[in-house]
Amino acid sequence: MSRYHSYKTIEQLPDLIGQEVTLNGWVSDKTDKGKLCFIKLRDGSGIVQCVAFRPSIGDELFEKAHSLTQESSVSITGTVRSESRAPSGVELDITNINIWQISKDYPISPKEHGTEFLMEHRHLWLRSTRQHAIMRIRSSVVKAIRDFFDGNGFRLMDSPILTPSACEGTSTLFETEYFDLGTAYLSQSGQLYAEASAMALGKVYTFGPTFRAEKSKTRRHLTEFWMVEPEMAYFDLNDDMDVAEDLVEYIVQYVLKTCPKELAAMGRDISKLEAVRRPFYRMSYTEAVDWLNKNNVRLNKKQADGSEIQIDFPWGDDFGAPQEEAIMQQFDKPCIIHRYPTEVKAFYMKRDPDNQKVALAMDMLAPEGAGEIIGGSQREDNYEELLARIQHENLPVDAFQWFLDLRKYGSVPHSGFGLGVERTVKWISGAEHIREVIPFPRMIYRIVP
Ligand code: 4AD
Ligand code: MG
Repeated sequence: MSRYHSYKTIEQLPDLIGQEVTLNGWVSDKTDKGKLCFIKLRDGSGIVQCVAFRPSIGDELFEKAHSLTQESSVSITGTVRSESRAPSGVELDITNINIWQISKDYPISPKEHGTEFLMEHRHLWLRSTRQHAIMRIRSSVVKAIRDFFDGNGFRLMDSPILTPSACEGTSTLFETEYFDLGTAYLSQSGQLYAEASAMALGKVYTFGPTFRAEKSKTRRHLTEFWMVEPEMAYFDLNDDMDVAEDLVEYIVQYVLKTCPKELAAMGRDISKLEAVRRPFYRMSYTEAVDWLNKNNVRLNKKQADGSEIQIDFPWGDDFGAPQEEAIMQQFDKPCIIHRYPTEVKAFYMKRDPDNQKVALAMDMLAPEGAGEIIGGSQREDNYEELLARIQHENLPVDAFQWFLDLRKYGSVPHSGFGLGVERTVKWISGAEHIREVIPFPRMIYRIVP
């Protein structure tokens, strides 16, 4: 028998009051009170309390309810009753139980577990309330991203994961042997392919997993993460920043609309998200350096003898987390920092025609300590300039010949950016660590489960 058409979920129960339904799920908790047995059933869509009352259901069915343990799999049939004290507004009065499996010694009990233990049991940890809420927020973020681009004239263009060259620096490449063709690298970014695609379709986006052999053990770094990368022909840096702001506003407002329960489960301060409305803040890198130095946000510098001194932030250095956090403390919504020094940014970025020392780059920093969620730029569209940059970075020109072609046949100004899905979900959900916002995180010290 197909369960498909009669399958009801806990989410739907408020519309089914008075009806008898069968729910398929798992037991998240059970309490016995004499003649009463309360079973908290979860089915992925929500949690509902199911009530077994011995005098009305008889001994045999009551014993079945009583035998259930945490994470036992069951189908429970019952009548939906409105219950104002229940979080979902409904309860189920049990009329039948079909036990699929009694679970024994489920390793994750309601007591506190250490993070290492939980990470080792990630395949089970995903069932807990907080992780469930984060995964639903993640799913909404991804839907918002797709809706935004699909609804604004962008076409999805998938980029390859096995690639012949680096895109974001050579120090974070995962390598693998590729038949007789030498070394292949796992893609750090779909951007180079997005650029080719934009010349064919105008406005495009790539969306997929990207890989960085990041040595950093921070709360913001994964070795495998998801990135969405729009790329637009005939867009300059200002257009690029406008798209980035529109996208982030759309995502945040969409999650507020679709995930109120999940945000509440996370204890998220909704007012902070409601404030995320355009226009965001913008400042140039040079303005940001001036601000740091005016506000005495000093940089610790190690000297030759090992001692540390505090200095003004030197123009030309890249910002680290401390600088970004200091800058963002004054802002209640995201801020875009643009025109970074050419030397700290990628080879493909166009230099500012008004100041060759800076690139037409932009990073979007999110508030509440979330840090960089977007990196992007206007691209170098001049053949000779791009070739010079590739040579300057000691990158293999051969592997980039096709990319240089784009500057030979109908080159146009174009721009794009990459938004990290996990950084964004971490910020919006209020999760403490990036490892919690992807189903199965990959980090330097973890590849299982
Ligand atoms: O700033 P990034 O390195 O930019 C690029 O890859 C460009 N090619 C994008 C483009 O212009 N099409 O990375 C973009 C974003 C970052 O802002 C951050 O949100 C995320 O990707 N990111 C990471 N997220 C998790 N773990 C890591 N190790 C990440 N590295 C980057
Ligand atoms: Mg970046």
